[in-house]
Amino acid sequence: MFKILEREQLTDNIFKMVVEAKRVAKSCLPGQFVIVRMDEEGERIPLTICDYDTEKGTITIVFQIVGAGTMKLAKLQAGDAFLDFVGPLGRPSELCEENLDSLKQKKILFVAGGVGTAPVYPQVKWLHQHGIDADVIVGAKSKDILIMEKEMEAVAANLYVTTDDGSYGRSGMVTTTIQDLVNEGKKYDLCIAIGPMIMMKFVCKLTKELELPTVVSLNPIMVDGTGMCGACRVLVGGEVKFACVDGPEFDGHLVDFDNAMKRQQQYKTAEGRAMLKEQEGDTHHGGCGNCN
Ligand code: NAD
Ligand code: FES
Repeated sequence: MFKILEREQLTDNIFKMVVEAKRVAKSCLPGQFVIVRMDEEGERIPLTICDYDTEKGTITIVFQIVGAGTMKLAKLQAGDAFLDFVGPLGRPSELCEENLDSLKQKKILFVAGGVGTAPVYPQVKWLHQHGIDADVIVGAKSKDILIMEKEMEAVAANLYVTTDDGSYGRSGMVTTTIQDLVNEGKKYDLCIAIGPMIMMKFVCKLTKELELPTVVSLNPIMVDGTGMCGACRVLVGGEVKFACVDGPEFDGHLVDFDNAMKRQQQYKTAEGRAMLKEQEGDTHHGGCGNCN
């Protein structure tokens, strides 16, 4: 069992938990995720790793209530435990594999949208710990659902907070701030955008025009998290990829976001899954057992 050591409610429907998971914490790197299960009957829920402490053997997760599974999850308290806490899954951020000296020469811009702020944090923290500066834009619909501002401030070279309704920080969506920074003369070599699919789509549309290479982290529906079921199938540069094993990070300028968003909706119903099985043929996998 994996004990919840701390639980904090960040907003109306966003929660943070520190979980004892020594083996996961030991091998975890920024960019990876976990899949949790509360009990024998519980659904498998993929969750963003927001922080990890190798010494203490803990993983911090941040999640938003989006359905019955996460609603049940939010009811857990400190002292309760997960039956399964599988990870670290997915490939670590490519930044972790780059030469530190060449990374120091790069001007990096992170763009975090809503709950996507949680997976951005460990990447910026990792860079900061290795003496590498990065600018960060954090976007939220309004002030009351902005998360992790203080934590991000401590590790970002420059933090730009923007709210869609202008209730705090700059006004407008993250794309407005990217354009403003470029207009103000800021130059970047790499952008890393994590947030809702629609945000990543429009960030990539803009950064393509700005000729700014962009990495995105995709979180489509996942079931097994090991490349077997096919739930997380996405198209990248015209090729079939599975976000759980080939990603979650991809070249944003190659991702077919419209396909990913449409598939996400289709996958939610039995009829949609049956249709996907027909359309996708051999690359559908179907190991989830849900589409047969
Ligand atoms: P949200 O809808 O509140 O959006 C967050 C910010 O994204 C907005 O404030 C805005 O600045 C930007 N944004 C949204 N639409 C945009 C557009 N059309 N153009 C430009 N910018 C836009 O975000 P939320 O409610 O926190 O997001 C929840 C979604 O994020 C869920 O679907 C969840 O699955 C996903 N999510 C993704 C990841 C990931 O790893 N990619 C991680 C956590 C959550
Ligand atoms: Fe990726 Fe099953 S979750 S293949």
